Amino acid sequence: MRRTMVAGNWKMHGTRASVAELINGLRHLALPGGVDIAVFPPCLHITQVVDGLKGKSIQVGAQNSAVEAMQGALTGEISSSQLVDAGCSYVLVGHSERRQMMGERDGTLNRKFAAAQACGLIPVLCIGETLEQRESGKTLEVVSRQLGSIIEELGVGAFAKAVIAYEPVWAIGTGLTATPQQAQDVHAAIRAQLAAENSEVAQGVRLLYGGSVKAANAVELFGMPDIDGGLIGGASLNADEFGAICRAAGN
Ligand code: PGA
Repeated sequence: MRRTMVAGNWKMHGTRASVAELINGLRHLALPGGVDIAVFPPCLHITQVVDGLKGKSIQVGAQNSAVEAMQGALTGEISSSQLVDAGCSYVLVGHSERRQMMGERDGTLNRKFAAAQACGLIPVLCIGETLEQRESGKTLEVVSRQLGSIIEELGVGAFAKAVIAYEPVWAIGTGLTATPQQAQDVHAAIRAQLAAENSEVAQGVRLLYGGSVKAANAVELFGMPDIDGGLIGGASLNADEFGAICRAAGN
């Protein structure tokens, strides 16, 4: 059985004061057993969050990391080894906002993914199609190429210690959610692509859905057979809402 997972991507939100408030809210949550829960604050606040959540079963991840595993001369970047040192367990790789606005391409993301694993971080690979790609019937082709890039470069075994988040770009921050069936169809295709290489890896890997997940739609989404939890943006900035989503994943 795969453990479900709920991950909160705080994006570029927060001040020291608002992060302290959010930590306080998270500390007071009644969380379900059997669900892996993680939050991904901006790098600047990682230490504050790691310290603030001590003793609470919520892990911390980063939203990005360098192409190099170890620290060195690379101005403005943060290495996976530094993230581990700061107390991170996970790192997002290839969020669509970074693919689109920072120009991150598959080759760069392969390096980030490998660097994260070299340090023991669990990469959360984000993949998904734009509205235009969906409307022109290219969804599965796009997602398969993004996934295939890692498989070709690092081998399917890399997904034995990774998480995949399917996030249709048109559903991110828009209030438009993929229907549970639309999401399930893509998740099933992702698992089938992995299974064609290695069925054990395919059965074990967690596939999260992301894109306007809220407490109100989480139960239905998480009820689909290939959806193992969610990557939550906007709704993760509200501790009570995030807690309700975590409980939905525990059902
Ligand atoms: P959203 O963001 O929940 O605000 O749509 C999801 C994400 O980008 O990870």
